[in-house]
Amino acid sequence: MKVLVTGGAGYIGSHTCIELLDHGHEVIVIDNLSNSHPRSLERVQSITQKELFFYEKDLLDKEALNQIFQTHAIDAVIHFAGYKAVGESVEQPLMYYQNNIQSTLILCETMQRYGVHHLVFSSSATVYGMDTKSPIPENAPLSATNPYGRTKLFIEEILRDWALTLPESSITLLRYFNPVGAHSSGLIGEDPQGIPNNLMPYVTQVASGRREILSVFGNDYDTLDGTGVRDYIHVVDLALGHVKALEHSFKSTGCDAYNLGTGNGTSVLELVKAFEQATGQNVPYQITDRRPGDVATCFANPNKAKLELSWEATRDIVEMCKDSWNWQSKHPMGYQTS
Ligand code: WQD
Repeated sequence: MKVLVTGGAGYIGSHTCIELLDHGHEVIVIDNLSNSHPRSLERVQSITQKELFFYEKDLLDKEALNQIFQTHAIDAVIHFAGYKAVGESVEQPLMYYQNNIQSTLILCETMQRYGVHHLVFSSSATVYGMDTKSPIPENAPLSATNPYGRTKLFIEEILRDWALTLPESSITLLRYFNPVGAHSSGLIGEDPQGIPNNLMPYVTQVASGRREILSVFGNDYDTLDGTGVRDYIHVVDLALGHVKALEHSFKSTGCDAYNLGTGNGTSVLELVKAFEQATGQNVPYQITDRRPGDVATCFANPNKAKLELSWEATRDIVEMCKDSWNWQSKHPMGYQTS
């Protein structure tokens, strides 16, 4: 199949491009590089020894997108492109709504014009409300507590409404839990701009000496050790989930959501300990105040994806830590340096 991957130069996008190429699909990437580096796609091609098409364009550029659909007989789209920083979305909500929602509308209009009816959308566990009890099933109540999460929620609803007008369409909403890790080659990985918001990249930057100490945001939650519990999932497992979702979309119609998680909860301190044991690196930390908006516990019920997509995560927390460190230690400054 010919698959258009929006945001394909990003962390999850680049890992998904590898799996698509390895499964014999042709890949076309559109990415404006606002939060990614073209070197990731160079490495995707060297890892797979296969070529892909890359357009450094913005999804808001209707003419550019039209040209891509004109040039390539696209069979399906995997849509990653979008801003994703929770804190930034609170400070600049209009920028998030404009970028994430408007670009999706332009993508859908273009798909419809060219008769492309298969879409896999990068959603997030953030669409589950703060009070949802874990393990979280897909039919749990939905609500978002920040503009970023609301863009994911609104886009899910937009896609459901759109699917109802196109009986032949197949739209898959993939709700990621906490993606971590990197390809085993260590050539691609998570490369956050500035100070990392997420736990694992902060841990790896402390381990490499790029950051001095990890702040553990609160140890007074109602969890085993008082620190936040999350469902960390290896980015390669996540990427394979997209390939499975794509294949499933050609055997089904309608719009449906699937959790991509392991179903296991790991606390902040458990992750730090697992990282130190897996890598031999020391991660000094201090306990600080809770981060506003954090929940105590959040992990998936992954059974629906296992049953319907024939997919489940297989990589454990040790492999996640080893692969995260392998990338970070080989590329202390991410893609900035060769
Ligand atoms: C994990 C745990 C923190 C950093 C976020 C987004 C979500 C999704 C995944 C996009 C929590 C603790 C963190 C640090 C810490 N992204 N922590 N010190 O918040 O579960 O989810 O990323 O879809 O939308 O909200 O992930 O990695 O930020 O935090 O103690 O320096 O680590 O309190 O318990 P989170 P996270």
